[in-house]
Amino acid sequence: MVLIELHPEDAGVLRRQFRNDARVHVHHRDGYEGLAAFLPPAERRGLVLIDPPYEDRDELTRLAELLRAAHARWPTGQYALWYPIKERGAIDRFHGALATSGMRKLLMVEFLPMPDASLRGSGFVLVNPPWRIEDRLAALLDALGPALGRPDAARRIDWLVPE
Ligand SMILES: C[S@@+](CC[C@H](N)C(=O)[O-])C[C@H]1O[C@@H](n2cnc3c(N)ncnc32)[C@H](O)[C@@H]1O
Repeated sequence: MVLIELHPEDAGVLRRQFRNDARVHVHHRDGYEGLAAFLPPAERRGLVLIDPPYEDRDELTRLAELLRAAHARWPTGQYALWYPIKERGAIDRFHGALATSGMRKLLMVEFLPMPDASLRGSGFVLVNPPWRIEDRLAALLDALGPALGRPDAARRIDWLVPE
């Protein structure tokens, strides 16, 4: 596992956490600049999990480009990118940028348990996800709402670009 963390304190926490595990490599660097250096991995199979901070207003624009560039280096890799759902317009533009990026097999899944809050829910964009994952995610999210005391929680699962 390769972990990329920009902030020194957090990188230190990760290093300490995994100091006895030679399979884990912690890199203190900027993921936007550094991800490409690790792609494609020698194993040729794997998952890139991107859990961004969303500190910048244009972060979704940068992420769409990051994903496109990473995918260009490693088209068969699996990618999972988390995003918060606040303003729908920004999310729609993000999805639009991904849909016209040339990537295929792009699934989006959203869980919306709090329709009236400013953070209404969150989503993932998945590139090259496992076969039929949409069925398993639907069953999981249908159980998650009631389990959280939110039986009316909405969900969306759609292919932005099919295979
Ligand atoms: C939402 S948190 C991730 C939380 C983590 N996935 C967890 O479950 O504990 C985002 C992380 O990205 C780090 N970060 C912010 N900008 C970054 C960048 N440009 N490159 C790499 N890491 C960054 C932050 O320091 C923070 O630790």
